[in-house]
Order: sequence, then C-alpha cells, then structure tokens
Amino acid sequence: MMGFPLFPEVASTIAKSVDRLYFFLIGITVFFSVLIFVSILYFAVKYRRKPGRTAEQVSEGLGLEIAWTVVPFLITIVIFTWGSSLYIANSRVPDQAMDIYVVGRQWMWKIQHPSGRREINELHVPVGQAVKLTLASQDVIHSFFIPAFRVKQDVVPGRYVTMWFQPTRAGEYHLFCAEYCGTSHSAMIGRVVAMEPEDFQKWLGGVTEETPALAGERLFSDFNCVNCHATGARQRCPQLGGLYGTDVQLEGGAHVKFDEAYVRESIINPNAKIVKGYPPVMPTYRGQISEEQILDLIAYIRSLTPEKGQ
Ligand code: CUA
Repeated sequence: MMGFPLFPEVASTIAKSVDRLYFFLIGITVFFSVLIFVSILYFAVKYRRKPGRTAEQVSEGLGLEIAWTVVPFLITIVIFTWGSSLYIANSRVPDQAMDIYVVGRQWMWKIQHPSGRREINELHVPVGQAVKLTLASQDVIHSFFIPAFRVKQDVVPGRYVTMWFQPTRAGEYHLFCAEYCGTSHSAMIGRVVAMEPEDFQKWLGGVTEETPALAGERLFSDFNCVNCHATGARQRCPQLGGLYGTDVQLEGGAHVKFDEAYVRESIINPNAKIVKGYPPVMPTYRGQISEEQILDLIAYIRSLTPEKGQ
C-alpha cells in the first residue's frame, strides 16, 4: 500500500479544487510560521546583549505599519474570494442530479433510493453521475461526511438540507458522522460504494421493495390525509396533484414554492402557511409521523406532478 497518505483519496469532481485551496492555506501558514521563527532566531542573535549596547526606542514606522496591514488584508481577500466562489459553485446542485434521501438518527444513517431500495450505513452511488442528497434528522444534529468526496453537511433536526457530489472513481469510501451526537457517535460510520453505472443499475434492480411513492400513497390514506385532500364533496383542503415545484399563493398574499420543505412544514406545522382560499383546519402530525414517513409522503405528492416532480 501507499506509505503515509496526507489526504484522503480523490474521488469526486470537486475534490481537486478543494485540495488546491487547502494546499494554498497550508502554504501560507507554513510560510508565515517559518518567517516568524527565523526572524525570532535572527533578531535574538543580532540584538543579543553586549557590553556597551543600549536599547533604542522606536516610536513610529509608517511604511512598516502600512505593509503589515495591507499584505494580510490582500491575502485574506484572496482566501475569501477563492473560498466563497468554491462554496457557491459547490452549493449549486446540477439539474440532472439523481435524488437520494437520507435520515440521520442516533446512531445510524438510513438511506432511501427513489426506486425503493433502502440501506443503512451504506450508500451506493454510480460513478459519473451527479447525486443530490436531501437529508433530515430524526433527533439531534448529525453531520454527513464523505472525506474522499470532500463533502460534509450538518444535518439539523426540523429542516431539510441538501448536498451533492459526483463520484469520479469506483471504490469504497468512508462515511462518517462528523458532529458529536451522543454515546455512540463514533460508531455512526459506514461506507460509500461508488460503482460503474451498469453495476449500479444491477445493484438497484437486485431487490424489489416498495417505492417511497407507493409507501407514501399508503400513508396518505393511513393518516386520513385523503379525507380532506380528496376530490369531490369532501374536499376541504387543496388538491395536491400538479402542485409540486410550482409557486403557491398563500392567505395574506405571500407566495411559497411547493417543495419538500413546504410539504414537511405543512405536515408538522399546518397553520404556518395556509394556501389562499382554504380554512386553517388541518391538524398537526408532529410526533405522530417519522422523518422517513414524511419523505415517503413527499415522494407520493411529488409523483402526482409527473414532469416538475422529477
Ligand atoms: Cu451522528 Cu455523530
């Protein structure tokens, strides 16, 4: 094997550019550390105590003061521009990205593919395809970290966060929880398996499980959502077909994008954003429904809007 790896493997499209910035930061740190230590030694020797030498008070040095203000300022501006442009580029999820849902809880990662395949503490992804993860936490803050892809995202309870990556090399990589989340935090680990696309398709098709959309449809009637959201005489709430991805007008004039976050909020806190023309009659499902069930419901509601829901 290799001797001493300084960095994790490089296995995603952004890994190299993250490393370049990192090397730059290390370079600056090393340069100034060496400069300071060498100067200390040099001046200690040069101005050491000698018989007859007296200290001379220097009160001002304008050139020096400007230099030690302007130079660090320019360096930090370079770091800021470089870092933020990389950050912005990495937060834009490509349009054709594949969707995978992740729920973190003490102490495991549960992963849900749209095809119905579920995994725990393992994430299978195809090489050469952008993958978008939508993450939720069932309890406390976790952090989804794949060092080989140079991606890390805090997963905060009560909201969805997204991250994306595109694997470039088939292989097995570490998956960590990078936020201390209780007793077994250190055991909240797993592996990411990047596979060639055809192997991935085989893996995906290997097991036939209920798709999230189907599970969601079942929950939609189990939780009696269908009573109010149905068509016909019983309808008291908005019909959900065709809404996903659109702008919805609210009571009071505001708009909201009908997306994962809005559906989740409407299940947990239904009165927060009422659709225009409807009464605030929906009860909250807080505490009665798990994050995974919410994701299933979202998949079902999404499937009612075929094009935009993709
Ligand atoms: Cu989850 Cu640490």
